[in-house]
Amino acid sequence: MSTQEECQDPQDEAALPQQPSRRRFLQSAAAAATVGAAPHLRAQTQTPAAPPAPINQAAPPPRPVTLTINGRAYTLQLEPRVTLLDALREYAGLMGTKKGCDRGQCGACTVLADGRRINACLTLAVMHEGENITTVEGLATHDALSPMQRAFIEHDAFQCGYCTPGQLCSATALLNEFRYGAASTVTADVRARPAQLSDDEIRERMSGNICRCGAYANIVAAVRAVHDGGSQSGSAAMQDAPGAIGASGNGHGDELRNVHTNHRTT
Ligand code: FES
Ligand code: FES
Repeated sequence: MSTQEECQDPQDEAALPQQPSRRRFLQSAAAAATVGAAPHLRAQTQTPAAPPAPINQAAPPPRPVTLTINGRAYTLQLEPRVTLLDALREYAGLMGTKKGCDRGQCGACTVLADGRRINACLTLAVMHEGENITTVEGLATHDALSPMQRAFIEHDAFQCGYCTPGQLCSATALLNEFRYGAASTVTADVRARPAQLSDDEIRERMSGNICRCGAYANIVAAVRAVHDGGSQSGSAAMQDAPGAIGASGNGHGDELRNVHTNHRTT
């Protein structure tokens, strides 16, 4: 018995609060430490979770896909994830359609699907079976440039030419859209057919096609020239005289064709 316990009056013992003995204090502290460490100990002793099942990353097998491009059927062995742009360039060997951003922002890859312009980098090739795809190589007929191609040459509507295939496809579809009464965001009354194809209309409708060379003013002039010339009379006049542009002095006929086929991005 300690000295303190010996001297304490037993009658006062009930009135005083219980003083923790040194042994009880150490026992409590040890218990608290054990409880605090329990999660850690439990984590150490837990059985590790089973590893996640491996994801099958093998590419889906290629399958035959038949695309009608510029009036000709191409049966290509394509994986389902191949974009139309890559199918055109890498599988069908049609290098005219250009890859710029590969994410739908520049318009360099514009082609026509059943006459409707689309960004070939944003769509899968397998989605276009049964449609008529037109690329820049398909705009000319029987070695005669299309009216729009001729107008681009006449108005110097390109410099490096990288954006030109997309611009040509886009401009060709633009005139058809306008002819069928499609409105744009600058059309004053979208419930009525746009009255005229103003330069603002052309700029707006071509705004999805970026030209890093800044040939915009001449592109607008070229589109306007084809529109003002009348699609039928202009087209017939131009196609009736296939040598006229080549003889016009600017000498860009062959250049334009080569520009469409020689560029290749990696
Ligand atoms: S490459 Fe398709 S939009 Fe730029
Ligand atoms: S002509 Fe060079 S990007 Fe348009």
